[in-house]
Amino acid sequence: MTRETRQRKADHIRICLEQKAQARKATTGFENVHLIHKALPEIERAAINLSATFFGYRFAAPIIVGAMTGGTAEATEINSAIAEAVEKLHLGMGVGSQRAAIEDKQLAKTFAIARRKAPNAFLIANIGGVQLVHGYGIKEVKKAMEMIEADALAIHLNALQEAVQPEGQTNFEGVLKKIGEIARALDKPIIVKETGGGIAAEEARKLESVGVKAIDVGGCGGTSFAAVEYYRSEKVQDRLQAEAFWDWGIPTAVSLVEATKTVKIPIVASGGLRTGIDVAKALALNASLCSISQPFLEATVKGAKETEKTLACLIEELRNAMFLVGAKEIGDLAKVPVVVNGNTARWLTTRGFKVETYASRGAF
Ligand SMILES: Cc1cc2nc3c(=O)[nH]c(=O)nc-3n(C[C@H](O)[C@H](O)[C@H](O)COP(=O)(O)O)c2cc1C
Repeated sequence: MTRETRQRKADHIRICLEQKAQARKATTGFENVHLIHKALPEIERAAINLSATFFGYRFAAPIIVGAMTGGTAEATEINSAIAEAVEKLHLGMGVGSQRAAIEDKQLAKTFAIARRKAPNAFLIANIGGVQLVHGYGIKEVKKAMEMIEADALAIHLNALQEAVQPEGQTNFEGVLKKIGEIARALDKPIIVKETGGGIAAEEARKLESVGVKAIDVGGCGGTSFAAVEYYRSEKVQDRLQAEAFWDWGIPTAVSLVEATKTVKIPIVASGGLRTGIDVAKALALNASLCSISQPFLEATVKGAKETEKTLACLIEELRNAMFLVGAKEIGDLAKVPVVVNGNTARWLTTRGFKVETYASRGAF
């Protein structure tokens, strides 16, 4: 890894820890998604079953810690803490982009620590879609997979970040075709994920058609990579360029509906999910799995125990939300009435999606 790339990775962690690199004016849209409180839940809270299956793997709850890092000493600690926590809680995690370690074998251990600390957890390898356009192929992908004995591969799309980054790679021509080639050649499932921009119905359909097995919408409303680049930029012009796109993207709740209503493959919800209630709402909108990144960063710095506590708290929030809507199992959430209003409803109806109302869910 070049010194520049290593510095960039360290910058991302530092900025996400110290600055508010979160959407400012934009929101996830989940504030306009309402689960209807049930005064007569008729279930026992303690008997609620949160387990879920994704790609044949049994999760204690449909939650993963989303891709963040690798490549530096600090990243090793972060990956280690996340891995220990998800192993203990029977969840899953993604590692950050493995490009650095594909280019410099010495760095493989900063990612491999995840499998060492989580021998049984669901682990997701990570490479950039744009790297596939710039020479990466099945050989590099297999290296990334083997490095952590991955259960699946995430190919991340980050056009926004590359565009506002002075050193960014902005040629994405042919990226879909390349993703399709990898999907055909790899014997493990591929998840294509955005990183804060969201994925629209049109793109979801294209990704499904080339053999992608799941889509992680990575919508707007949480971590903003334009914000990260804003804090990294040294020149005024770069700073202004990044600031202009701070809140760019499709809100997570909107992207989630666009994807779930368009394709049959499982959809992962991510981008600004912050509580167990957000997770419950995403599952009610038919997400198969929920992925959260930034809120765990702080916990990981304090170690595996703190990371585990943070995750356990989130799971309890999900359990309470399920209790309050009378959902005994994760699958029941997709059947509970959901009301969508405000900008989220307006956005969806403008895009031709029918917004469910209390009545249309057959609640009366
Ligand atoms: C510090 C940091 C580093 C990240 N690095 C990567 C990465 O290398 N690869 C990737 O696919 N996503 C990366 N992401 C994006 C996350 O996986 C996720 O899509 C995004 O942060 C939105 O989720 P959040 O709002 O819960 O943070 C990173 C996020 C953070 C906070």
